[in-house]
Amino acid sequence: MLRQLLLTMSRNERVRDVIVAAPFTSDVVKRFVSGEHNEDAVKSTAELVDQKLFITIDRLGEDVYDEAQAKETVDAYVQLLQDLSAAGLANRAEVSVKLSAVGQALGESGNQIALENARIICQAAANVGTTVTLDMEDHTTTDATLGTLRELRKDFPFVGAVLQAYLYRTEQDCRDLAYEGSRVRLCKGAYKEPESVAYQNKADVDLSYVRCMRILLEGAGYPMFATHDPRLISIASSLVEKSGRAKDSFEFQMLFGIRPEEQQRLAAEGYTTRVYLPYGEDWYGYFMRRLAERPANLAFFARSLLTKD
Ligand code: FDA
Repeated sequence: MLRQLLLTMSRNERVRDVIVAAPFTSDVVKRFVSGEHNEDAVKSTAELVDQKLFITIDRLGEDVYDEAQAKETVDAYVQLLQDLSAAGLANRAEVSVKLSAVGQALGESGNQIALENARIICQAAANVGTTVTLDMEDHTTTDATLGTLRELRKDFPFVGAVLQAYLYRTEQDCRDLAYEGSRVRLCKGAYKEPESVAYQNKADVDLSYVRCMRILLEGAGYPMFATHDPRLISIASSLVEKSGRAKDSFEFQMLFGIRPEEQQRLAAEGYTTRVYLPYGEDWYGYFMRRLAERPANLAFFARSLLTKD
């Protein structure tokens, strides 16, 4: 119930205006978001690299209403990739891109605009020797996003996909994408989805996640297990062991600020562990989805509200 409410609030502009303007918000947001500018993202990246972690950086900004805004996002990514390279970090950090942030929702030509914009980001990534992963958004965009992935991979085979275990279709998508050179991030899924397309209960989502892990590990691609769930992490480790795969043939991924000790533990055990690092001014939707995932975060947020003068 609470999760559904928070996810609904994540799309409500009036609630957004109140929360974004509140002076107490910024301290809590800092736990999950690196900062608002490229320099913040580069600085956090360097700190995480010192902890033997890999990074994927997301410039926040899902609600893009015109081509100029989409272009702004593209320019910011291109600059970020150059800044990472200048700081000697491009071998440890890639970028994650939401197609909505580069124009996917801009009417009939949205897919084409997003494809062209994503190409520019991919070229910038190729220029500095790193990779790009396309984030996955709500189920109405899954086909379009996978279509864009296919197009991009013709020129930039390093582009990775994200699949969400809560969708019924995902096992089949895993089969389709489990081929050599294919980077696939498997996550549970963060959007409010109807029963017609997605499992509603946690146990079913977890079971689906395990089935998808098996498919990806049996295939020839490069799976990226994105979860903080201790049970799934332990199942992943034993499935990897049974599969005979090398430790560098897959990776774990977690979000910035969530279970940082576990991130360091996995890295210390020799697992490639990548932190998803969001930054940018438009942090509201991302922040609300993180609150929705865990009531304790909401309590933390409420406490900071009450203890502020
Ligand atoms: P679950 O939510 O069941 O949590 C398991 C445990 O992890 C909790 O008990 C708690 O200990 C800890 N935990 C989880 N979330 C927490 C939080 N917010 N704060 C504190 N502790 C928390 N989704 C999507 O739809 N499209 C995408 O492209 C991506 N991309 C992505 C990248 C990466 C690297 C990650 C880690 C996640 C995503 N997601 C995503 C989000 C994903 O779908 C999912 O919503 C979250 O990862 C939470 O699910 P868990 O697997 O962590 O399990």
